[in-house]
Amino acid sequence: MGDLQARLANGLAAVETHLRQVITSDEPFITEAAAHLLNAGGKRFRPMLVLVCSEYGDPDHPHVVPAGSAVELTHLATLYHDDVMDEATMRRGAVTANRRWDNSLAILVGDFLFAHASEVTSTLGPEAVGVQARTFARLVKGQVRETIGPRDDEDPLRHYLSVVADKTGSLIATSAYYGAHLSGASPEVVTTVTEFGERIGVAFQLSDDVIDIASNSDDSGKTPGTDLREGVPTLPTLLARRSTAPADAELVRALSAPITDDAEVAQVLAALRVHPAMDEARAYVQAESDAARGLLVGLPAGEATDALHELCDRLASRNT
Ligand code: IPE
Ligand code: IPE
Ligand code: MG
Ligand code: MG
Repeated sequence: MGDLQARLANGLAAVETHLRQVITSDEPFITEAAAHLLNAGGKRFRPMLVLVCSEYGDPDHPHVVPAGSAVELTHLATLYHDDVMDEATMRRGAVTANRRWDNSLAILVGDFLFAHASEVTSTLGPEAVGVQARTFARLVKGQVRETIGPRDDEDPLRHYLSVVADKTGSLIATSAYYGAHLSGASPEVVTTVTEFGERIGVAFQLSDDVIDIASNSDDSGKTPGTDLREGVPTLPTLLARRSTAPADAELVRALSAPITDDAEVAQVLAALRVHPAMDEARAYVQAESDAARGLLVGLPAGEATDALHELCDRLASRNT
């Protein structure tokens, strides 16, 4: 295991160096604004998945590090845009770009990062550019469908699960795909890790939904209840809203619209934290993570597969 950990640490350091080179602009303000979230922290989950999956081929292939950088740049860009959409004020323990500057600048910096993600991806070949474009289109479709909500004839939970697959599963699946495909892993491994990425990506977003309610900002680096303020339905709130218990009537009513009053947000958070829907949501995350784990049986035994197992172990209990 030691060897893999050392290789991953080296790979992540190389991704970090690459990211810093890429965001450097001849306009110092752009460099500062793009570095803002990069410097604030973040788990680098997507580049890490690229690196782990590259272990199924040649992890030293020169496309691996730029691929890790490209997926983090894409992710970072979506965070700038997402915080505008969600009117978020805190991210990675720092004030958001939309709050530090304004919405226009946050959107433009996101665009700058998307542009550079595309440029880096173009060095990986035309096929990777197509994958990046389709991933981005799915991600945007997810954000749009979250914003417009389910159709009248659509089950809200099913709608939300498809939103989650598009907005989050897509890029995590692509991270796994790039790692395996660009390093020259076999087509069977590439297919399996891509499916794994999609599935673990859904579980990852659903655990983020639980964190929005259950965690404090010291752990998550974000403001609890952001989804409640925006009226964005999430797994725990969709499950709580199914309750027909008379004692839940007030909670169900409160969850039907954005909650703007700070005291009401605190009240609803407190009610949700002790509500059975939270355990139901956690069980759902566990089931998704187990389903992702089930896909790993098709992969060759070894350190990389062990690392993917560990990722499943950590996901259900994460709070950051
Ligand atoms: C946050 O992603 C947005 C989601 C898709 C849940 P991460 O949880 O990977 O955020 P960072 O990169 O660690 O800040
Ligand atoms: C993150 O979505 C953005 C994308 C996945 C595109 P959320 O709004 O659910 O995530 P956080 O909680 O702000 O990180
Ligand atoms: Mg958000
Ligand atoms: Mg959002």
